[in-house]
Amino acid sequence: MDYKRLLVSAITTDGVDGEAAYALIMPSKDSSRGDYSLPCFKLASALGKSPAVLAAEIASGVTLGGYIASAAAEGGFVNFRLDKTAYARDVLRGALERGEDYGASDIGEGKTVCIDYSSVNIAKPFHMGHLLNTVLGAALYRIYTKLGYNTVGINHLGDWGTQFGKLITAYKLWGDDDDIDRRGVRALVDIYVRFHKEAESDPSLEDTARAWFKRIEDGDKEAVEIFDRFKKSTMAEVSRIYDRLHVTFDSYAGESFYNDKMDAVLSKMDGKGLLEEDDGAKIVRLGDDMPPCLLVRSDGATLYATRDLAAAYYRKATYDFDKCLYVVAYQQNLHFRQLFKVLELAGEPWHKDMYHVAHGMVSLEEGSLSTRSGNVVYLEDVLDKAVDKAYEIISDKSSDLDGAREIAEQVGVGAVIFGVLYNNRIKDMTFSYSRALNFDGETAPYVQYTHARCCSLLEKCGAVDVEPDYKGIASEEAGEVIKLIDAYPQVLLSAAEKYEPCFVARFLVDLSQAFSRFYLACNINNAEPRVKAARLMLVKAVKDILCGGLKLLGIGAPTKM
Ligand code: ARG
Repeated sequence: MDYKRLLVSAITTDGVDGEAAYALIMPSKDSSRGDYSLPCFKLASALGKSPAVLAAEIASGVTLGGYIASAAAEGGFVNFRLDKTAYARDVLRGALERGEDYGASDIGEGKTVCIDYSSVNIAKPFHMGHLLNTVLGAALYRIYTKLGYNTVGINHLGDWGTQFGKLITAYKLWGDDDDIDRRGVRALVDIYVRFHKEAESDPSLEDTARAWFKRIEDGDKEAVEIFDRFKKSTMAEVSRIYDRLHVTFDSYAGESFYNDKMDAVLSKMDGKGLLEEDDGAKIVRLGDDMPPCLLVRSDGATLYATRDLAAAYYRKATYDFDKCLYVVAYQQNLHFRQLFKVLELAGEPWHKDMYHVAHGMVSLEEGSLSTRSGNVVYLEDVLDKAVDKAYEIISDKSSDLDGAREIAEQVGVGAVIFGVLYNNRIKDMTFSYSRALNFDGETAPYVQYTHARCCSLLEKCGAVDVEPDYKGIASEEAGEVIKLIDAYPQVLLSAAEKYEPCFVARFLVDLSQAFSRFYLACNINNAEPRVKAARLMLVKAVKDILCGGLKLLGIGAPTKM
């Protein structure tokens, strides 16, 4: 609640400039005089009145009610007193009525948002680098859904390209089916790395690889079969990780899906006079501040950009989106600028509905990520390690916890997700296990722990069947919690608007911290029943928001920890 706005809007005196008053009004220094105070000196001189006269006029004209209890003039100031109890009561009632749904809205009704996220590459490791766009995109997907949008989650699989010719060559030479069955992508990555090593001394391998890729392109049975096996093996592994991260998609239409859709798009570009021959290649010139967009290479091969162009048209035709988001690292800034520019030049009005939700790089404290050398940090290993560490901490805290393994999974995986979602997405970051798993830090475990504490409080206190006395939540500490609860719907709107799930993550930490201060300052269980009833309402509302908020980020909320 913006009290200043509320107070200013209750002023009825002629000639008082609302914006000027808004800028002047402030919390009272002396609470015995009131909660907010408006100094009238500047306003009075603008109106050619004395401050005392204007203050008296304003005070007598204020519309009381609606959380404003009184307004009194005193020496050129207007002192306002608020009915915070009524405000607290209304905020809590409003939140509890909706439960975990609190913050949901219908603002997106009738609008469609496509979100392209994760978009992993077949036969490539699901490494830490793919973690951020996966959890970021999935969080946006849930936030937009909560705001009533029709949301389409798209995994634009990297399942096309000359590298698959290399991989088949490597497989034919050194592939071991048992090993691939057992170790999946790791086995494929090993032979792929070996291909690069051996090709340095034997360039003929590159020719073989080209020939294999040609066979995939031509739909040759053997080539396609081998490739499909790679795809199956990769997807089995990737799905396992998606399950742990609670990530889902509505479409897995990847790059190969657009093989038969590019000719039409190229003719469209040609028809609009955009396609230019350049040394046998086909390009679209984009003006002086960007290199041209290459759509067909001189050997006739299409590119990543060609597939994305076809995908953009396909998505518009299929989903008629109001917005199409691409959650991809900032390394691809130029690619998306080019893509959007091509659409603009093609005269597609919806080019302005496309957004590249760029994000930074995640590295591990232990050392940077390296894909080339084959020494890659697999996300699954990071999750396993975080879960093991979480298990140790939890067992240390309470040795007799039921289902400690399941709880450790939620805490460990949650810590990893929250750890990378906590900062503004554009920042590069270093992931640290100890920081992410600090139960007292700005972390998932801290929020989860606060949630579990709310659950056990509610359980211990049971239902209190008396009319709540809202003076029980009139303290400063309770007021801070109430203010945050009231702000939550706006936090979700801003997170969607700025594509920043970190707003939600930070909010959950703020709410947990404010709750901890309230809990420390106000006794709950031994309070007088009506006071206790009001305080338990606050506990319940906090619990619901923490649980719902964690879910939005893809994080579980155990009831015991
Ligand atoms: N597979 C790509 C990569 O790993 C990301 C694809 C992003 N989506 C897109 N439509 N280009 O770099």
